[in-house]
Amino acid sequence: MTAAEDIFMSFDLGHGFTLRWANAGDQDALKAICLKTGDAGGDASAIEDDPDLLGLIYAVPYQVFEPDYAFVLEDADGVCGYVLGAPDTARFEKRLLTDWYPPLRARLRDPGPERSGWHGSDWARYHIHHPPELTHPALAAYPAHGHIDLLPRAQGAGMGRRMMDILIGRLSAAHVRGLHLGVAPSNERAIRFYEKIGFRRLRGADVPDACWMVKALR
Ligand SMILES: CC(C)(COP(=O)(O)OP(=O)(O)OC[C@H]1O[C@@H](n2cnc3c(N)ncnc32)[C@H](O)[C@@H]1OP(=O)(O)O)[C@@H](O)C(=O)NCCC(=O)NCCS
Repeated sequence: MTAAEDIFMSFDLGHGFTLRWANAGDQDALKAICLKTGDAGGDASAIEDDPDLLGLIYAVPYQVFEPDYAFVLEDADGVCGYVLGAPDTARFEKRLLTDWYPPLRARLRDPGPERSGWHGSDWARYHIHHPPELTHPALAAYPAHGHIDLLPRAQGAGMGRRMMDILIGRLSAAHVRGLHLGVAPSNERAIRFYEKIGFRRLRGADVPDACWMVKALR
């Protein structure tokens, strides 16, 4: 079953939470959650001067280009989390470069490479104008990548584990060999969560501001 085949299907995760496929109407919620969790797992609202850019990099394009692997978590108060995946990172990266970033660039100034002069969301403006490579030879055995973020009210109730299980189940069914996730090295809580659910930290392939958690899939 794909997102297009059954957009109304949802998974009851217990404790009043359900998971369903994300749709275009969720894009504002994806951006809001990405911002609220964008500072190494904490709220980045006070850091970013453009509240949308984090989500336009790390959340919305997954709903647009990989809808079969894009899920949102809901409770009685609305959307409170997401898990997003791209089964083939190289293919996803090509879509970003050809279809996603060019129209965003048209409305954003390029702050240039001098980090010491960056303020607010300049890092994101630079990222959009000069996207870093998503693929790395050390990650070849883990071609899929993903993102998971939950608002504080949904954290610590077992939702993250269940959401990752569902994403991994779908990737496995599509015969994807492995999955990697980028984490801020300072986000120790997320690193412990990933280790708890069977990921290991891949040494020797860190990039500035991120380390990699990897898991082989069957
Ligand atoms: C990190 C995050 C996705 C984890 O999801 P969660 O729903 O809070 O975690 P769960 O309740 O499903 O925990 C799953 C398991 O991991 C363990 N775990 C979770 N956080 C942990 C921590 N800080 N230390 C040790 N174990 C932890 C839980 O004890 C649980 O183990 P169990 O199933 O054996 O009881 C979620 O807290 C979150 O979105 N945080 C903010 C955003 C973020 O940091 N995202 C990741 C960016 S890379």
